[in-house]
Amino acid sequence: MSGPIVTVAELRKRYAGAPDEAVKGISFEIHPGEIFGLLGPNGAGKTTTIGVMTTRVVATGGSVTVDGFDVSKDPTAVKQRIAVVPQRPNLDRSLTALENLTFHAAYFGFSRRERKERAEELLRAFGLEGRGGDRVDFYSGGMAQRLMIARALMHRPRILFLDEPTTGLDPQARLFLWDQIEALKAGGTTILLTTHDMVEAERLCDRIAIVDHGERIALDTPRGLRQLLPSGEGFELITEAPVPGGLDALGRAETDEVGDRTRTRLFGDAQPAAVAQAVESAGGTLVSLRRLEGTLEDVFVHLTGRELR
Ligand SMILES: Nc1ncnc2c1ncn2[C@@H]1O[C@H](COP(=O)(O)OP(=O)(O)O)[C@@H](O)[C@H]1O
Ligand SMILES: [Mg+2]
Repeated sequence: MSGPIVTVAELRKRYAGAPDEAVKGISFEIHPGEIFGLLGPNGAGKTTTIGVMTTRVVATGGSVTVDGFDVSKDPTAVKQRIAVVPQRPNLDRSLTALENLTFHAAYFGFSRRERKERAEELLRAFGLEGRGGDRVDFYSGGMAQRLMIARALMHRPRILFLDEPTTGLDPQARLFLWDQIEALKAGGTTILLTTHDMVEAERLCDRIAIVDHGERIALDTPRGLRQLLPSGEGFELITEAPVPGGLDALGRAETDEVGDRTRTRLFGDAQPAAVAQAVESAGGTLVSLRRLEGTLEDVFVHLTGRELR
């Protein structure tokens, strides 16, 4: 097996003037051809980590190597091999879609003819055929997002960084993008994806690093992460109000409010009948009880004691 295509080692970043580090010694490797997910709540450090990997942010510690090149020593070589679709749209809205694509390719030294052909091919692939002449100003959010990815692919990068590509998209646009991402992987592109959408991470990613407060708290395949829940043991209880006295006697209990009800995730090996009994005798009113299935969200709460979003 060949080595990693990206190596992030003990990466640290403290922004000037910030009291705390945004990234506190994160390490992981990305294998060629995989979809690697960085999953974590807002402020976890995902965009900062991508920033360093893509030469936009200067690290304050550790190192990052992309396709054999150190991002701080050889940023130009790194930029030729990668593409970034940033979290915030940065298309030139005064230009047409086609111009956005061809200007990008010109920057990478493609001939006029290659640029035109490649742009037409990508507009087709991203469902934008016939819309190349439209000004981006008139594009919907979903179309603009697709155009950003098309633009990123113009110079045939080996590694594509997608920073929350589906946040804010409607369900159809999201599904369309998932298909595109899977097609890119099938074509051999290595992809790093950040998201706070657990369904998305589980569906697309070969491996996932969960980050929180600038630290990596888990790294595994989706299946491996689900197994971090102790033997899948645990329950989610919805009660009409917090159970008086709590349920800590039955295991570790994490409680939050869902609407006007109380949700408790109970990690332990109690039996369902005993859980129901304990709620009743404490004077609580049980609305529902389900066994935790070991979704990524259940895992996250187990690891951090709180919601992913
Ligand atoms: N340019 C910046 N200057 C100062 N602090 C920043 C900057 N960018 C991000 N941060 C801070 O760094 C932390 C991580 O942010 P970010 O990497 O954007 O997280 P995520 O992408 O996971 O939401 C946050 O506390 C954020 O406020
Ligand atoms: Mg971000």
